[in-house]
Amino acid sequence: MCGIVGYIGKRKKIYPVLLNGLKRLEYRGYDSAGIALVCGGKIVIKKKVGKIAELEKAVGKKLSTGELGIAHTRWATHGGVTDANAHPHFDCKKNIAIVHNGIIENYKVLKELLEREGHKFVTQTDSEVLAHLIEKYNDKVKDLAKATRMALKQVVGAYGLIVMSQYEPDKLVVARKGSPVAIGIGENEYLVASDATPILEYTKKVIYLDDEEIGIINHNGYKVVNLENNGVHKMINNLDWDIAMAEKSGFETFMLKEIFEQPESITNTLRGRVLAKEGEVKLGGLNLTDEELKRFKRIIITACGTSWHAALIGEYLIEELAKIPVEVEYASEFRYRSPLVDKETLMIAISQSGETTDTLFALREAKALGARTLGICNVVGSTIAREVDGGIYLHAGPEIGVASTKAFTSMVTALFLFAMHLAREKGLIEKSKAKKIISELLKVPDYVREILNLNDGIKTIARKYKDNKNFIYLGRGNNFPVALEGALKLKEISYIHAEGYPAAEMKHGPIALIDEDMPVVFIATRDKVYEKIMNNISEVKARQGKIIAVATENDNEIKKIANEVIFVPKTDELLYPILTSIPLQLLAYHIAKLKGCDVDKPRNLAKSVTVE
Ligand code: G6P
Repeated sequence: MCGIVGYIGKRKKIYPVLLNGLKRLEYRGYDSAGIALVCGGKIVIKKKVGKIAELEKAVGKKLSTGELGIAHTRWATHGGVTDANAHPHFDCKKNIAIVHNGIIENYKVLKELLEREGHKFVTQTDSEVLAHLIEKYNDKVKDLAKATRMALKQVVGAYGLIVMSQYEPDKLVVARKGSPVAIGIGENEYLVASDATPILEYTKKVIYLDDEEIGIINHNGYKVVNLENNGVHKMINNLDWDIAMAEKSGFETFMLKEIFEQPESITNTLRGRVLAKEGEVKLGGLNLTDEELKRFKRIIITACGTSWHAALIGEYLIEELAKIPVEVEYASEFRYRSPLVDKETLMIAISQSGETTDTLFALREAKALGARTLGICNVVGSTIAREVDGGIYLHAGPEIGVASTKAFTSMVTALFLFAMHLAREKGLIEKSKAKKIISELLKVPDYVREILNLNDGIKTIARKYKDNKNFIYLGRGNNFPVALEGALKLKEISYIHAEGYPAAEMKHGPIALIDEDMPVVFIATRDKVYEKIMNNISEVKARQGKIIAVATENDNEIKKIANEVIFVPKTDELLYPILTSIPLQLLAYHIAKLKGCDVDKPRNLAKSVTVE
């Protein structure tokens, strides 16, 4: 949540650099934005409620030059969405400006203390406290980096922070605890950002700060120290994403682009990991010996949001193939309920961003209790990816649309690979059977292409149902989490109330809601629960509900009963969730677009949730 950007370097016109950076980070939060530049020896701040385009309009051409600057796009936590509460924030004397991502938990105490000392606050934010605390120490020590260190020692909470001072206009001080900070190292220039996407245009060389590290950057170089001022050696990472991957490439939105990228993103998740002839899966990053892998008695998967739905599908896959009991835990719940974890437990954390605070803390809790940990992440070098013992990268490319699509199908693909690998290691699945399923897996990208060809038909369905006020999504078996995900996609981007349920649970409650105004989306593929779900469809039909079915091609039976049918290619039962989730992404997408919603930036949401 919140995106921060900072620039120091050779360019004379840095306003466009900061603005583009903000645009790339807008998915992190977009209720207000602001920018601070040193112009003619003074810090000038412009900030505005609304998306970055509003800031751009407000600034006009007035800020076209600057020597050094910072910028911020906000997802409000403390203090309403107002121009004043937007970042950057000044200290009393307007000498120091900061942008902050995270939450200062002890801000009230610090604020009272500073107020007693004469500091005047002009916002309701927790972040403004940082500017004043740094000011307090800077007045004493006249050294921005030292003052920042002294201030951060007093802070409880999370921060991704950039500080600048008009008295040291050749310096950016950046710091991290809990909220990510990447420093791009270009030629005679440095770009700091909450993630690497704004950096890609300038350099592929990046360092990631760890918790309680401070980076001090000037025109000639940078150094990283800890809060005790001891130097820290940082590894330089080479980014393997290119800039085209972070752009819309002719699509009207990032979300649509990402939906249509799924044949490639799934292929990339599979790349180099499948030995089709041997019926085996190779996962190089697990950092577990085969013996260690086989010894786990229990697996816990933790995640949030869409990633949690992928985890539920993982539970089906791992239990079915590898016969190990799996529990799926909301990361936010796991952390606060004395979880039973030991050395025989494997904890898998799933996160597209690798930065979700709840997931990160659940992971740390499990680690502290002795569990081995694996991560399934998309963002290389992200905090979760760095803190786990091993893992599987998705290689799905940057996902910018706030509603997750391609990361979800890649997560399910990665979980399938893991389950198959474990099953083969444990000798639970014969080579011939494994070969058969794997050959189906390799066809999934083509199947996804076929489903994407149904886009126009799905749009027609969307037109018919866009004005409905409620939707129910029902599925059974491994398509039950797909129902949850379909409902989540619809509610998050179209603001229509939608609920996902296991189809058979409908009769214990949701059936009371069914009448001619209730569309019910059934995921009813030809699998072992097909007959059962057909009964549930009949129950809805009998109550005049409108049935939208996602079914297996050539299913003429379902055609007779459903109002609408979207067919997916026939495949192995275990793989259906990857296919069936795609029509639901498109259905939600078109309904939201037809209603005029901003699908890439749905209201109140953010892509990367770095608060508890
Ligand atoms: C936010 C996003 C969701 C995402 C969830 C978990 O709520 O809007 O799309 O599924 O965070 O994010 P992660 O990066 O951990 O997968």
